[in-house]
Amino acid sequence: MRKESNGPLKSWNDRITSLLPWFRRATPLLTPHQAEAPERENSSYELLCDIDNAHEPYLLPVRTLDELFPGISESSVQLPANRIMREHLMVLPVTELLCIGAICRHINPRSVFEIGTYSGATTLVMAINAPGAELHTLDLPPADIAASTKIGRHFRDGPHAPRIRQHLGNSATFNFAPFDEQLDLVFVDADHTYEAVRRDTENALRLVRPGGLIIWDDYRWEEEWSECAGVTRCLNEIAAVRPVFALAGTRLAIHKVPS
Ligand SMILES: C[S@@+](CC[C@H](N)C(=O)[O-])C[C@H]1O[C@@H](n2cnc3c(N)ncnc32)[C@H](O)[C@@H]1O
Repeated sequence: MRKESNGPLKSWNDRITSLLPWFRRATPLLTPHQAEAPERENSSYELLCDIDNAHEPYLLPVRTLDELFPGISESSVQLPANRIMREHLMVLPVTELLCIGAICRHINPRSVFEIGTYSGATTLVMAINAPGAELHTLDLPPADIAASTKIGRHFRDGPHAPRIRQHLGNSATFNFAPFDEQLDLVFVDADHTYEAVRRDTENALRLVRPGGLIIWDDYRWEEEWSECAGVTRCLNEIAAVRPVFALAGTRLAIHKVPS
């Protein structure tokens, strides 16, 4: 779970983290395109990563939607109007919802699995834009989370609910076996610690059929969400052996499993 960011400074690490905005101002920010394949020796950015162990460099090559999915610009995406205003920081910003919706329109998945439901905003956008799909979405059981009534509330009683199956369980112990190599699209967006993302990613790689797609949220992130460094670190490692791309202008990362 992402944590709240406005608490008092408690530790030396927090104090160092509080200096990061100053270092960022002193260090030109990398745009997604500039961030493409940065040199590891590359000075100030690497230094920034060393100041706070939580920070990881963005190493994934950056691609636009069109570069990853030629012809996708012809797609029209549907977004419920009540998703235009972002309800909570746990929910994806509109641009990312639209990108995921466009990808669904483009690949027309038959089976989707989301690890980390929260309020179900992305689940709903995927359901609307993948009208032929059966969707599965997993979140922790109510006893394990304070916000349990929110889980899946955007689709729970709506017209797409019959195609959406809400699973309650911990992705560390959930039995994914029935979905092995069955899924066209897996969206990984649950626990963002390195160990959890690594585990969810290994599961996702097993679940996706050849030619399918894995999308991760939070490859890129803002400093108050430093736990997302787990996503960045995991995907930097995975990218050494598989093609994984950062989606330009978003925090999303994408891997197409070879056919
Ligand atoms: C960032 S939110 C998901 C947002 C959602 N995917 C969306 O796009 O709106 C992360 C969710 O993952 C859930 N979660 C965290 N750890 C989990 C785990 N080990 N297994 C299953 N769900 C988990 C949290 O309860 C939370 O609802």
